[in-house]
Amino acid sequence: MQKLIIPGGIPLHGEIAISGAKNAALPVLCAALLTQDSLKINNVPVLQDITTMLSLLKQMGTSITGHNASEIILSAAELTNLVAPYEMVKTMRAAILVLGPLLARAGEANISLPGGCAIGLRPVDQHIKGLQAMGAEISIKHGYIHAVAKKLHGARIVFDIVTVTGTENLMMAATLADGTTILENAAREPEIVDLANCLNAMGAKVHGAGSDIITIEGVPSLHGAEHTVMPDRIETGTFLVAATATGGEIHLKDTDSHLLDAVLDKLTEAGAHIDSGENWIHLKMHSKPKSVNLRTAPYPAFPTDMQAQFMSLNCIANGTAIITETIFENRLMHVQELKRMNANIKVEGNAAIVYGISHLDGAHVMATDLRASASLVIAGLIAQGETVIDRIYHLDRGYENIESKLSVLGAQIRRAR
Ligand code: UD1
Repeated sequence: MQKLIIPGGIPLHGEIAISGAKNAALPVLCAALLTQDSLKINNVPVLQDITTMLSLLKQMGTSITGHNASEIILSAAELTNLVAPYEMVKTMRAAILVLGPLLARAGEANISLPGGCAIGLRPVDQHIKGLQAMGAEISIKHGYIHAVAKKLHGARIVFDIVTVTGTENLMMAATLADGTTILENAAREPEIVDLANCLNAMGAKVHGAGSDIITIEGVPSLHGAEHTVMPDRIETGTFLVAATATGGEIHLKDTDSHLLDAVLDKLTEAGAHIDSGENWIHLKMHSKPKSVNLRTAPYPAFPTDMQAQFMSLNCIANGTAIITETIFENRLMHVQELKRMNANIKVEGNAAIVYGISHLDGAHVMATDLRASASLVIAGLIAQGETVIDRIYHLDRGYENIESKLSVLGAQIRRAR
């Protein structure tokens, strides 16, 4: 199994480009299932979750050109297989995003239940409830969601909780439904706006994306289009935290500061100096960071996908921080690993109290999920001595070329078997 080896203690300096957003690219790829025509997608990040999604779409009959390049053309002229098998859904929960488009276009879908996941239970009841309100008949058989609908119809759906992929799934399904669908208590994440822009370029009538009420007027069919995926705000945030924690200075291109206001506010509170322009962010950090309290919540509040990275920063900050995770039940697994590096953290329920110490010690640690892996990389970069991170396949699911980007910024990091 591959590992990352990081001799720590080097401040990050330099300039890199940010990739397209994984969480925007995944639903946009699934939107290709909604039309017989070709969808050209630019700025698709090259990473494992995208490869998995492309294989799934291929299995369903989608022809794909440019696989493993940042420009991809998908053409789902005919759908030949309406099944998302367990082997794929278990490695990438976002595979559930094919459910809405398949049902809307082909009238049927058979998707493996995602089941338990390391960071929490993550049920899909809201996806199912919404599709049922739109007229789908859904049964769970042999661990699969079997959904059938001759023709979906518009409905008013109020989500019980805010769900990102749930909102995306129902938004895609509603584009081809008879009549108008209103989604209330919808997620407001920028990735939802990106998907709505792509769907509208394909001829859909989606209004209000980015607010908590989204209205979709169904149309008889969608057509081909070209779409450029938005920058990855979590990759952006991860590099900014790494630079802050190491006391460095970095310039990030091809990104957008407006996508991560809550994160930039917290970095400023920690002591970083941040400048930004239309598509760049510059961060300078000359002092030891100050501890920052944070509480995760749906957008535009602080993102759960940045919680672990800020935990590492707080480990070596001046003061004590309280980090509260409100989205997932079990997303503090990196605490155990950070403790192996001598961090002083106490967990109470869904909160972690992080007592800042002078330095972390390099150690052998294990990545437990995607963003936890990023927190261990940051911990390794600031630690005294060498850190070895096992199970880095989690990192490869969501970060494009993380080692080469960190190397450009001066980090010493290498991959070993
Ligand atoms: C998406 C992101 C993920 C991010 C998360 C929260 C993608 C591909 N992934 O995941 O990186 O961490 O949003 O910002 O975009 N829930 C239910 N019932 C449902 C659906 C969700 O109870 O039907 C719960 C989940 O268990 C979780 C919470 O709602 O506790 C939020 O989950 P959700 O927003 O759906 O996360 P994902 O869309 O899976």
